[in-house]
Amino acid sequence: MTLLSVQGLHTHYHVEQGTLRAVDDVSFEIAEGETVGVVGESGCGKSVTARSIMGLLPRRIGEIAAGEIRFAARGGTLDLAQQDPLGPVMRDIRGNDIGMIFQEPMTSLNPVYTIGAQIVEAIRLHSDLSKADAWAKAEQLLERVGINEPARRAKQYPHAFSGGMRQRAMIAMALSSDPRLLIADEPTTAVDVTVEAQILALLEELKRERNMALMLITHDLNVVGEIADRVIVMYLGRVVETTTAARVFDDPKHPYTRGLLASLPSLGRRTRLTPIEGTVPGPHQRPAGCPFAPRCAQATEKCNTQPPTFRIDAETSVACWLYDDAEAGHA
Ligand SMILES: Nc1ncnc2c1ncn2[C@@H]1O[C@H](COP(=O)(O)OP(=O)(O)OP(=O)(O)O)[C@@H](O)[C@H]1O
Ligand code: SF4
Ligand SMILES: [Mg+2]
Repeated sequence: MTLLSVQGLHTHYHVEQGTLRAVDDVSFEIAEGETVGVVGESGCGKSVTARSIMGLLPRRIGEIAAGEIRFAARGGTLDLAQQDPLGPVMRDIRGNDIGMIFQEPMTSLNPVYTIGAQIVEAIRLHSDLSKADAWAKAEQLLERVGINEPARRAKQYPHAFSGGMRQRAMIAMALSSDPRLLIADEPTTAVDVTVEAQILALLEELKRERNMALMLITHDLNVVGEIADRVIVMYLGRVVETTTAARVFDDPKHPYTRGLLASLPSLGRRTRLTPIEGTVPGPHQRPAGCPFAPRCAQATEKCNTQPPTFRIDAETSVACWLYDDAEAGHA
């Protein structure tokens, strides 16, 4: 069953230079218990998409300009795009239905409170557990995410935790409400490869044991290959390809996806990526046609017009004129 359905989402940021279309007509779905990877280079709109879902856009700057974010909440399906981000419905969604692990663990953990106190606060915000019971639950959660001696660790401040342990603590906090969807925004960028593998394994275990869906944001296709069922590839605020995690490696369709794949280090080592030729244009220099056209070796005249999304089959859709025939064949 569909848990989250984002349709035609446009999120605008009103900045000094004008209106920035950070998310520009994005559509995708996440089924119950599914892991969906969201990939793309820096600035393509991954975090803004996540913040739009959570109702956590910066006030007065960020705005959902159009689109639907339908979510099958415990109390019934809601369009999150229509809710007041600060109102009780969104607070309830954030407290009970959707958990999020943010890209910057140090900015989401408060340095002046102990780890335990912060998890207890998250628990007590949305439940009527006593303080003692909430502490017990916090310790259980810390233990579950792999933190040894949880009773002692809970009394420590974030600075006493390593990067990997902070990420584990963030996961514990996000799980405190038993969410049906966990959004993890680049949960492993700040940690080394060994810790990354452990955190990914932990996320996978947790989602299985809780039948939780996972939206995993990353700029690393290898991470997607490790744990995702499906993948959404974003470029300059748009979804350019939606496919399965297996196919993205075996049969990538969009020239940008192919470029991302070609830039992966072949031995799985974290060497510097061979970048796709050219750089992402600034958000205010969005090309009029296909956003990837300035970097695309296969661009033609047609690409001066924005390509629609062509459905190749039940699993794969691509926004690229190269697949125009596929549409005709499968309409
Ligand atoms: N608070 C903000 N104010 C103004 N512009 C912003 C803000 N946050 C994001 N943007 C802009 O919105 C666009 C999308 O940014 P977003 O953070 O979603 O990218 P991302 O895909 O998450 O990148 P990264 O991989 O670096 O995290 C970018 O052009 C970015 O500069
Ligand atoms: S639409 Fe054209 S420019 Fe865009 S990715 Fe496809 S071939 Fe390249
Ligand atoms: Mg981001």
